[in-house]
Amino acid sequence: QEERFMDLEKYIAAIPGFPKEGIIFRDITPMLQDPEAFKETINVIVNYAKDKNVDVVVGPEARGFFFGCPAAIALGAGFVPVRKPGKLPRETISKKYDLEYGSNEIHMHKDSIKKGQRVLIVDDLLATGGTIEATIELIEQMGGIVAGIAFVVELKDLNAAEHLRAKGYDVFSIVTY
Ligand code: HPA
Repeated sequence: QEERFMDLEKYIAAIPGFPKEGIIFRDITPMLQDPEAFKETINVIVNYAKDKNVDVVVGPEARGFFFGCPAAIALGAGFVPVRKPGKLPRETISKKYDLEYGSNEIHMHKDSIKKGQRVLIVDDLLATGGTIEATIELIEQMGGIVAGIAFVVELKDLNAAEHLRAKGYDVFSIVTY
């Protein structure tokens, strides 16, 4: 783990009972609000990825955009959004995945990743990993190589990072709970 100059955990708020009872919601908005903390967070992600020869950063809607876009610029990479149904105007590929209750579906423009491109996935928070696994599948379907996966927050009890590492993916998170 690289050197940190700030205690970034201080900039993640814990909100008990949101969006429902029994959940402690980890809120990254204080980190975005503080110029030094925001910059440092992006620096830590960039430092993790800087030797991975990243061509494209892929970020899931919506909070993945906050961290993925500045990281892409700093890495000299492009940015590709992962979106909910009905948002992307051109031809897409999509993946449906199950949640605890119900299901979700994500889309990417079908020409958004070129064969052989090296991809860094960036999202704010790793919980069950459902969105990330679906995202990996779409990237690989287009011939992309997942060079790394970076999260600001990881909820450890759900074991999603271990699951991804067991499949051979390089997973990094800044703050774990
Ligand atoms: N915060 C934000 N998003 C989430 C969380 C959380 O604690 N758990 C699952 N998605």
